[in-house]
Amino acid sequence: MIDGFGPIADACRIEVPDAHRRPIAIVGAGAIVDVAHLPAYRAAGLEVVGLHDHHPGRATEVVGRHGTGKVHDSLEDLLAEDRVRVVNVAVTASAQPGIVRRVLESGRHVLPREPFAPDPATGQALVELAEARGLALVVNQRLRFEEGMVAAHRMVELGWIGEVTAMSIAVNIWTEWTDWPWMLGVPSLEVMVYSIHCHDVVRWFLGEPSLVFNAAGRTPGQAPIAETRSVTTSTYPSGAVSVIHANHGTARATTSPPSGSTAPAAPSGAPWAVPARRDPRRRGCRGPGRSSTPRLCGPRPPAPLPGPG
Ligand SMILES: NC(=O)c1ccc[n+]([C@@H]2O[C@H](COP(=O)([O-])OP(=O)(O)OC[C@H]3O[C@@H](n4cnc5c(N)ncnc54)[C@H](O)[C@@H]3O)[C@@H](O)[C@H]2O)c1
Repeated sequence: MIDGFGPIADACRIEVPDAHRRPIAIVGAGAIVDVAHLPAYRAAGLEVVGLHDHHPGRATEVVGRHGTGKVHDSLEDLLAEDRVRVVNVAVTASAQPGIVRRVLESGRHVLPREPFAPDPATGQALVELAEARGLALVVNQRLRFEEGMVAAHRMVELGWIGEVTAMSIAVNIWTEWTDWPWMLGVPSLEVMVYSIHCHDVVRWFLGEPSLVFNAAGRTPGQAPIAETRSVTTSTYPSGAVSVIHANHGTARATTSPPSGSTAPAAPSGAPWAVPARRDPRRRGCRGPGRSSTPRLCGPRPPAPLPGPG
């Protein structure tokens, strides 16, 4: 019986063929690089040759923790390193397009994070630059590489499930947005930094939608100015439909929120109130300027990262 799942296990195995291996450099030494990218690269046996962060000391600290690569004081210095073939860019969203452009102009393949660009025109111009230079520009989409998603997709490909006519994703979590001060003032937040992964997954299964309806909202008292919850329904030429509901304002049931947290406590005497406790899966996720203090990690999927995440 278990042998029957061989094709699914094969699809879930993440391997990088030797012919695809290239020395990697990284720009940005923030939370996602520290807790997800560098451990994933190490697990895959990929070589990280250099890291640059414009915040003095941060790259040194992260390189020290992971024991990999050389610290570069500037982007120019990093790009001057001949061995670098791929540059992973994981910085504050507004800084990303300019860095991606310089990386492409230096002749390197580039892996930006989502949100790739603040608007379609900027994104299109960067895609055209990459195409003109024969370079790969690949956004680090992570959720479609998560084991459960890959397994489900392979089962559909193999015809085990039949035709997919509807799909729904529901996410209810508390995200401590204040851990990313640069996210608090952006005009569009939740879809750009989180549920964009869900949209990518649904398009992987159902293709391009013909109509998309979106409603977005905020949680009373939230710190960001933009939306932190969204509901998106889409229809497809085949007649299929999808729903993505992502809500980052779910109250955690705690008697005392962690210091500095904007999470609401459970009402006094509520039967579900439990002592505040960190999710051990998220231990070690660190934020800017608080590098020695483990914190709850925000915009990433509830399941362990396959590697973008
Ligand atoms: N943390 C997550 O769970 C997560 C998940 C998915 C995607 N992302 C995305 O990845 C990117 C980085 O996220 P993060 O959580 O690591 O953010 P972060 O705020 O923890 O780190 C960003 C880092 O980039 C550095 N930086 C900013 N501008 C720079 C520049 N011009 N040159 C060099 N370094 C610069 C900062 O000093 C900081 O160390 C963002 O686009 C975010 O949306 C993060």
